[in-house]
Amino acid sequence: MNIGLIGSGGREHAICQKIFESRLVKKIFCIPGNAGTSKIAKNIKANILNFNEIYKLVKSNKIDLVIVGPEEPLVKGLVDFLIKKKIKVFGPNKFAAQLEGSKAFMKKLCEKNNIPTAKFKICKNLMQVKNFLKISKLPIVVKADGLAAGKGVTICKSSKKVLNVSKEIFDGKFKSSNKLVLEEFLVGKEVSYFIIVDRNNFKFFGTAQDHKKVKEKDQGPNTGGMGAYSPAPIVDKSLEKKIIYKIVKPTLSALKKSKNHYKGFLYVGLMIVKKEPFLIEFNVRMGDPECQVILPRLKSDFVNIIYNAVIDNLKKIKIKWKNEKSMTIVLCSKGYPGNYKKNVLIAKINEIKFNKKIKIYHAGTKLKDDNIVSTGGRVLNFTSTGNNFFKIRKLILKSLQMLNWKEGFYRKDIGWRVINKR
Ligand code: AMP
Ligand code: GLY
Repeated sequence: MNIGLIGSGGREHAICQKIFESRLVKKIFCIPGNAGTSKIAKNIKANILNFNEIYKLVKSNKIDLVIVGPEEPLVKGLVDFLIKKKIKVFGPNKFAAQLEGSKAFMKKLCEKNNIPTAKFKICKNLMQVKNFLKISKLPIVVKADGLAAGKGVTICKSSKKVLNVSKEIFDGKFKSSNKLVLEEFLVGKEVSYFIIVDRNNFKFFGTAQDHKKVKEKDQGPNTGGMGAYSPAPIVDKSLEKKIIYKIVKPTLSALKKSKNHYKGFLYVGLMIVKKEPFLIEFNVRMGDPECQVILPRLKSDFVNIIYNAVIDNLKKIKIKWKNEKSMTIVLCSKGYPGNYKKNVLIAKINEIKFNKKIKIYHAGTKLKDDNIVSTGGRVLNFTSTGNNFFKIRKLILKSLQMLNWKEGFYRKDIGWRVINKR
């Protein structure tokens, strides 16, 4: 099979690596990919929101199966477009992708189906915001309705802040959002639970814990994710049952009832409060950097799994996992998530012989005259697996020190929840 992979982040490099290892694959095309994917696949420059351009590439390169990494093309309907053209594609359709594309859609679905989530109010104007403030306790979480590249959520400790943030959203800060969701602030432990879904079934696809704050001890503004580990020990059998029966099954049934069954990866973002799961968010794709820690633990052939999901045959296959732990630390450009320099040389990446146990998934990188330069805020993901999170982290940190990239920074405390407990 020839595979087309849409996206260019660390998640896509990790997926690309698994596709590369599959016995079912002939050629891989990354659209557009990064410097890391260019070593194992053919990168093709294209605008991933220009669906016609993608269709032409699929045809001209005889691509048999398209796998969509990021949310934006999913939310904008790439899957519907390609299916109409009779192309095999893995990911949810536009309707189902609203689970991530519209917080109001997701919240209404929860309300209608008794899915546990934070109390909320969908607001279309400041009057509604003021009324909610009168009957609610602080802090309050303000969420822009549409996609906002991880910047649409603000935890507000004062009414004034709630009003200011809401006003910005109504004034058009995020083009994707003309309404917002106000939410009760939940205190608990966050965890991400993943499944892969076809028309009839779903299967477990790992757990992970992300670290969203830019600074150590979970301080500073939110980012796309500074590091992750898998599995997340908080998810035991009893919690998993609750996640499936209270959240996953009612959601998938609701979509099926509306004749818009879900297909793809589903990322269930949870807050665990007194051993009870509350849905914080759905994402209609793998997480980034969660994917970079989950895929190295996968034993089964990745492409075989995806293909069977596409043909609604998940029930018949077994997904096997290694009994290993995994961690990734994200190397970022100085200044991220604010402004940062681009096109900075990462000099030593080709010179150093890293430990065999270290995988480096590229994110914001590109090749420039045989050199690797940075192009994004999140640049590289240093990943390793083993039996002990403390030892895994030590190895990753040693490799990051060896790279010694002066324009970058990273968190040294990834995994503190599982490491301090030892
Ligand atoms: P989201 O994009 O919805 O995942 O929100 C980003 C982050 O904000 C989450 O990962 C949580 O850490 C935090 N958050 C979102 N909603 C809530 C909530 N209702 N209570 C507490 N924290 C929240
Ligand atoms: N790491 C968070 C996300 O992928 O949305």
